[in-house]
Amino acid sequence: MDQNNQKAVINRREFLEQSARLAASAAVLSLSTSKLLAIPSKTGKAIVPHVTLNNGVKMPIVGSGTLSINGPTGEKCIADAISLGFRLLDTATVYGNEEAVGAGIRLSGIDRKELFVTSKVWVEDSGYERAKKAFETSLNKLGLDYLDLYLIHRPRGDVQGSWKAMEDLYREGKIKAIGVSNFSAEQLNDLIRNNKIKPAVNQIETHAYFQQPEMYKVIKKHGIQMEAWSPFAQGRNELFTNPTLAAIGKKYNKSTAQVSLRWHYQRGIVTIPRSSQVAHMKENLNIFDFKLSRADMKAIAKLDKNITQFPEWE
Ligand SMILES: NC(=O)c1ccc[n+]([C@@H]2O[C@H](COP(=O)([O-])OP(=O)(O)OC[C@H]3O[C@@H](n4cnc5c(N)ncnc54)[C@H](OP(=O)(O)O)[C@@H]3O)[C@@H](O)[C@H]2O)c1
Repeated sequence: MDQNNQKAVINRREFLEQSARLAASAAVLSLSTSKLLAIPSKTGKAIVPHVTLNNGVKMPIVGSGTLSINGPTGEKCIADAISLGFRLLDTATVYGNEEAVGAGIRLSGIDRKELFVTSKVWVEDSGYERAKKAFETSLNKLGLDYLDLYLIHRPRGDVQGSWKAMEDLYREGKIKAIGVSNFSAEQLNDLIRNNKIKPAVNQIETHAYFQQPEMYKVIKKHGIQMEAWSPFAQGRNELFTNPTLAAIGKKYNKSTAQVSLRWHYQRGIVTIPRSSQVAHMKENLNIFDFKLSRADMKAIAKLDKNITQFPEWE
């Protein structure tokens, strides 16, 4: 066999192995995530499946958080994350890092169309005119000409005005999907009742210690995608050394971080773990080759303290 043929066979074998792994992994997911498909990275190394939002837009199920990722180090982190296979980047006006995220994207050299970029309108920018202006400012800071997802960061201020601005920007094609963050069931219902476009996403605090089972049901009922912020609770309450997560991880040769992300994945929840370390980023992407059993899922369900780990942000 000549070298080219040999290479083609190896590539085909790699492709088939990756497809089989993904098929096995997708098969364990619930109905709501049955539309998961593979998104190969530029390097062909990491593959992140995606969910389909209620308007047909596809969103990677694991992305990179960017809170406190800033400056030249932050730019490098973003470029590293992209080179490893992260395609979803989650930023916000209030993080003060949209310029760094934009610079990191350019540094990575990736085609913008391969990315899914989220930003959020902050409370002080609420209301129709202000939200529109804030959106343009975010776009300029990021150096982009559209966003994949724009969220109302917190349900405060003139929420209805902000939403109407976002609906208009969505219709103009400047945002591919619009959604909310930190909304309660009542606030979601209110928004849906009073507007034409349903939110595609509700991004809320969700991790093993705060599992939000009620919101999980409400969101499913509305066909809204749940997205977990602080999927590790930033390690609070010693989540990274939690004995239950560690014992489960030991069975599969995975870390507590990987067990946490896999648990979210099997529930069909989008996660945006944040890391400034390449080793952790790699770990956070390496969760698609094992499956938590029903007993594992039940054991993790018992870790719920049903209370926020971030009372200072309430
Ligand atoms: N909508 C909202 O209101 C809201 C609120 C909070 C956050 N968010 C979004 O959600 C994202 C994620 O939440 P977060 O940043 O608060 O916290 P997080 O992702 O729960 O935790 C981040 C911490 O975990 C560590 N870490 C990451 N991967 C690890 C691994 N594999 N092993 C061990 N440690 C690991 C990181 O340290 P290293 O850097 O050392 O890896 C960092 O200290 C944010 O960045 C932001 O984009 C949204």
